[in-house]
Amino acid sequence: MLQIADPRQLSTECERQRREGRRIGFVPTMGYLHEGHLSLVRRARELSDFVVVSIFVNPAQFGPSEDLERYPADLPGDLEKCRAEGVDCVFAPRGDQIYPEGFSTYVVVEGLTEGMCGASRPIHFRGVCTVVTKLFNLVGPCVAVFGEKDYQQLQVLRRMARDLNQPVEVMGSPIVREPDGLAMSSRNAYLSRSQRESAPCLYRALKTIQERLISGERITAAQAVAIARRIIEAEPETRVDYIEVRHAERLETLEDVRRGETVVALAVFVGETRLIDNIVL
Ligand code: PAF
Repeated sequence: MLQIADPRQLSTECERQRREGRRIGFVPTMGYLHEGHLSLVRRARELSDFVVVSIFVNPAQFGPSEDLERYPADLPGDLEKCRAEGVDCVFAPRGDQIYPEGFSTYVVVEGLTEGMCGASRPIHFRGVCTVVTKLFNLVGPCVAVFGEKDYQQLQVLRRMARDLNQPVEVMGSPIVREPDGLAMSSRNAYLSRSQRESAPCLYRALKTIQERLISGERITAAQAVAIARRIIEAEPETRVDYIEVRHAERLETLEDVRRGETVVALAVFVGETRLIDNIVL
């Protein structure tokens, strides 16, 4: 497995692979890899011949009061996991190799970034779109795989790639869950034992809406939000950031929950830890 820190070396290597006829699969991450990330690697492997994983905790997507300083990291462990998954190349640059002094160019996607995580984390998507554009520029034509847990991010990046003619096919990959339903996330590592016990309420809330819909009930968006809020707020140490019912692709707000075209997305603080989850109905 190649390990690269120098952006130019990454570009050269990817170009060489493409010249030799290989399709590149790219999985951008912020490290502290878990089964969710590894499922993206496996998807990239199915779709390509040369799998690149980037590991970079991107400061530009964290607000001043967010968890950049304590974001978990374990590069040796991540490299081991990548090796075991048969990853071909890990790109793990230093901060100044991505944001050299004087850096002042950002990518902003309008519309889709309004509301949901964009409302509670105002600079978040600007940071995500900027770093992902830089990574796409370095890797070049490829298929890039992102987790559906970050649902809004996935839609935003799809739009960005389309709007900017980036030569990248953006693919989503399903959420991977713990046996009790909690969506896998590097931030789960922050949870205390009691918080970890509360955390599956996010998924329980989403499943309850889904089950009521499947049983034939007609549910308005306001009712869906109330159902989820009641379940989440019954658990200790939870504080709802948002619960939103949106069109699954355009992310417009909806009045009614409609099967086939609705996503219910939520962000909840469990203690100090902000967790997100969603379900497409
Ligand atoms: O989803 C993430 O881990 C990050 O937002 C990403 C896409 C790697 C950009 O830093």
